[in-house]
Amino acid sequence: MLMSKRSLPQTYVEGEDEAQTLIVTLRDATLGVTLELAYTIYRDRPVITRSARLINHSEQAVDLEKVASMQMDLPTQPLDAISLPGSYARERQLSRERLHRGVTQFESRRGASSHHMNPFVALADPNTNEFQGNVLGALLIYSDNHQVSLERDPIGQTRLTMGINEYNFDWRLAAGDSFQTPEVAMVYSTTGLNGMSQTYHDLLRDRVARSRYKHDLRPILINNWEATYFDFDADKIQSILDAAAPLGIEMFVLDDGWFGHRNDDNSSLGDWFVNRNKLPGGLADISKRTHDKGMRFGLWFEPENISADSDLYRAHPDWVLGVPDRGRTLSRNEYVLDFSQPDVVDNIFEQMTAVLDKVPIDYIKWDMNRNLTEVYSLHSDSAHEGETSHRFILGVYDLMERLTKRYPQILFEGCSGGGGRFDAGLMYYMPQSWPSDNNDPIERLKIQYGTSLVYPISAITAHVGTSPDELLGWSTSMKMRGAVAMSGTLGYELDAAQLSDADKQAVKRQVAFYKQHRELVQYGTFYRLESPFESNTVAWMFVSPDQKEALLFTFVILGAVQPEPHITKLAGLDPQQTYVETDTNKMYGGDELMQLGRYTTPVQTSDFTAQVHYFKAKD
Ligand code: GLA
Repeated sequence: MLMSKRSLPQTYVEGEDEAQTLIVTLRDATLGVTLELAYTIYRDRPVITRSARLINHSEQAVDLEKVASMQMDLPTQPLDAISLPGSYARERQLSRERLHRGVTQFESRRGASSHHMNPFVALADPNTNEFQGNVLGALLIYSDNHQVSLERDPIGQTRLTMGINEYNFDWRLAAGDSFQTPEVAMVYSTTGLNGMSQTYHDLLRDRVARSRYKHDLRPILINNWEATYFDFDADKIQSILDAAAPLGIEMFVLDDGWFGHRNDDNSSLGDWFVNRNKLPGGLADISKRTHDKGMRFGLWFEPENISADSDLYRAHPDWVLGVPDRGRTLSRNEYVLDFSQPDVVDNIFEQMTAVLDKVPIDYIKWDMNRNLTEVYSLHSDSAHEGETSHRFILGVYDLMERLTKRYPQILFEGCSGGGGRFDAGLMYYMPQSWPSDNNDPIERLKIQYGTSLVYPISAITAHVGTSPDELLGWSTSMKMRGAVAMSGTLGYELDAAQLSDADKQAVKRQVAFYKQHRELVQYGTFYRLESPFESNTVAWMFVSPDQKEALLFTFVILGAVQPEPHITKLAGLDPQQTYVETDTNKMYGGDELMQLGRYTTPVQTSDFTAQVHYFKAKD
C-alpha cells in the first residue's frame, strides 16, 4: 500500500566512503517471507545502525504482530540499564538500575515517543561513570509507540530487543509488499557516558538533522505564550516587540491563539486561518511589525489535532481518530486528526501552505498537545486497524517532509505539550525541540542533564521564564534562570514589556554574553561534570574543538550556613595549556583544572545559585 512506502527518518551519509552497509538476508521457506537485516557501520564514528525489512514473496497476506528493529545478545556480565523516564513537566529524568533475571521493559503506548519514556537505552558496566567505562547506547529513530526489552537469561546473557511497540500493532503485509522498520543507532563508548553522548550529539547534528540550520547559530527568541496566553492583540504584541528588540532579542514567536476564533483551548484547532478579530491586519501585519524591528518572525501550529468547535470538524467529523459508534476521549479539549489518511494530511498541508506562501515566516513551532487514544481509523477496516498508529506517524512524517522541503528557509522547532516528542525521528525534520513546559531552572537542571545524555545542546531550547515560576511558584534570580537557559539554545518566555529596568539590563547582558559564546554552547563539546540526580552541586561545561576556549557552569541547589568548600574538576581541556579565567583574571593549568579542580564559588545561605566562568587559553 502506498503509505507503507512513505519514508522513515534515518541516519544518512554525505559521501560514499563514510559508511558501509551489510545486508544479511534470511529466508523463511515455509512462509515465503524474506527478512533483510541492514547494518551500517560508520568509518569515523563509533556508530552502527540497524534496521530490518520484511518482504512478503508469498501469494498470501502475512500478519505482522511484532517486528523489532534490532536484537542483540550481550555476553555474560552484570549490566546497568540507563533509561530516560519522565512525565509532563519532568521529562527525561536519568534512571539507572542493575539488570536482574527476567525481562525489563521500557516503552511508550501513547502514540508518541512520549514524556514517559524516551526511545533510548544504554547498557553500561557497573563501574561506568561519566568519564570512564564501557557503555552501549541504542536509540530508536522513531516518534511513535516503542518498546525496549532487556531479557537476562539463566546463563546471565542479556538480550536487547528494540523497535515499534507490539501493543496495538498488527500490520497486514499484502503479497508482494514489504515492511521497513525504523532504524536504531547504536553507539559504543569506552570513555563513559560523556563519550557516548558526544558521539550521539555529533551524529544527530551531522547525520540525522537535515535542516539548513543544523550547524547555524540559533536565534535568541521571545515567545508570547506565558506572557499573554490567549489574551493578546496587535498592540500587546507591539509592546513586546518594542521592549524586546532593544535587548538584542532576535526573533518573536507568536504562540497559540492567532487562528480561527480561538480565545481559549476549546476551539479552532484545524482552522489555520488568522483570527481577524484579534489581529485585524492579519499575520502579514504582525510579520511586518516584527521585521521592522529587525527581528525574525515565528509562528505556532498544532497540525495534528482538531477542536470539535472548528469548521474542519463540522465538515469532516470522520477525520478524527475514533472507534465507530463509540465516544471519543477529549484531552486538552482536542481530538486527534486521522493522519493515517492521505486526504487529511493533504488538507492540513494546503491550509498551512496558504499561510506560509503569503506571509514572511522565519520559524515554526510545531506542537502536539495530546497523546493518541481510540487509535482506530474510520476509513480502515478490521483487517487493517492495527496499522493505524504507525500509519499515523508516517502521515505526520510525510507532512513534515513536504513542509520542510518546500520552506527550507524556515527554522522548525518540535514541541509536544512541552517535551513529549523529543526524539531523533523529529530531529530529522526539525533541528531543535522544546524539552519541557517546566521553565523552573532547578527542575530544568535535571531535564536538560537527562536530555543531554543523547541529544545535542543545539537541539535543546531553554527559556528564561518569570519568577516566581509559572508551574511551581519557586522564586529564583535572573542570574540562575539565565545560566540554565544559556546552557541550551536561549530564549525568553515572559512579557518583556513588564520587566523592571534592572531585569531589562540583566537580560541585555545575558543576550550579549550568549551571542559572544553561543557557538561554543551550541556546537562545542559538552561535558557533564556533576549530576543534579546525585548531588547538591551541579556542573557542566563546553569546550571548543581546538581546546582554546571553555565555558563552565556551576549551580548550587540549596545553600548552607557553613558549606564545605566544594571542588569541581573540569574536563576536555588541553593539559599543557594555561587558561585565563576571564572574570577573575586567575590563571590555571589545564592539568590543574582537570586534576585538582577549582572551588565552586562558596555560597553562604542563598538557595538556587549559579556561576558562569569563561576560560581562554593564554596563547
Ligand atoms: C504547549 C506548549 C507550550 C505552548 C502551549 C500552547 O503546552 O508546550 O509552549 O505552546 O502548548 O497551547
